[in-house]
Amino acid sequence: MAACSFNRSMALCLLWSATLALCLVSSLANLHRINHPVNSDSLRILVVGDWGRKGHYNQTLVADQMGKVAEELDPAFIISTGDNFYSNGLTGTDDPQFEESFSKIYTAKSLQKQWYNVLGNHDYRGDVEAQLSPVLNKLDKKWFCMRSFIVNTELAEFFFIDTPPFVDKYFTHPGDDTYDWRGITPSRQEYLSNIKKDLDSALKESTAKWKIVVGHHTLRSAGQHGDTIELVKELLPILKADDVDLYINGHDHLVQHISSRDSKLQYFTSGGGSKAWRGDYDLKKEGLKFFYDGQGFMTVEITETDAELIFYDVFGKVLYKWSVSKAYTAI
Ligand SMILES: *[C@@H]1O[C@H](CO)[C@@H](O)[C@H](O)[C@H]1NC(C)=O
Repeated sequence: MAACSFNRSMALCLLWSATLALCLVSSLANLHRINHPVNSDSLRILVVGDWGRKGHYNQTLVADQMGKVAEELDPAFIISTGDNFYSNGLTGTDDPQFEESFSKIYTAKSLQKQWYNVLGNHDYRGDVEAQLSPVLNKLDKKWFCMRSFIVNTELAEFFFIDTPPFVDKYFTHPGDDTYDWRGITPSRQEYLSNIKKDLDSALKESTAKWKIVVGHHTLRSAGQHGDTIELVKELLPILKADDVDLYINGHDHLVQHISSRDSKLQYFTSGGGSKAWRGDYDLKKEGLKFFYDGQGFMTVEITETDAELIFYDVFGKVLYKWSVSKAYTAI
């Protein structure tokens, strides 16, 4: 500003500053986008959530079966729906848990694909920035984690959303847990409204045949956590208005499918990566199509016209298969 000494240049300078500020705001407001083209008629992926327990609670069994299924499926990438490291995320990029719960667990050759990870509430109890750090990607190149981002495969577009900051109780009643809200507080409302605005415009701009939103928390669930009311209020209207096909989440340690009555949106929980069998659920949940309280994971196979989702258990047994076709609605 020291250079703005004359009236005319002052006006120019103001204009320039305003433009710069706008650029800054719009670059903050844009979701990071990754292009992941798939040179095939079908996109195949694996989805697992709520897993990092150093192999305990059947994490190793799930990982072994994921490896076997992936060998057949040859997935383009793997999605983690969050709660990557229990109970309190990572302490730093040098936390041995990164190896003990990730690198040394998902060892099958077929799983050495790109992993796209979101953060769960437990990840926020550690050093969140460690999980977002490129240092982890150097330690294990399949690791990738951001707060909110987009993966575009051309056939389908995936919108990964940072859901823990939406949930009020982590802020108002954290109990004995401490959360790493760097970058979220003190302007939490602005952070959330940016996510909503960015998601809404990215979904509206998307030309992909299939739009899939991924987050840690449930929208609809028959499990212990039930629906996440903040997401039902803040995100669900956007997902419905913008024609989203699937919402995929973790948080409840189980696998389930819930359908909606008033839109095409389907809810799939894949949170069975380790500790499960909570025994606390409501099988009368509206729209509940399938529910399994134990460990497992999910595969998704998508073509121009069809999608098929499958749940597997720790023995590699198919628990449930669901498919949908757009063949007859296509022009
Ligand atoms: C591991 O999986 C088996 C088979 O589903 C189950 O019987 C057992 O209870 C599981 N163990 C744990 C700790 O969840």
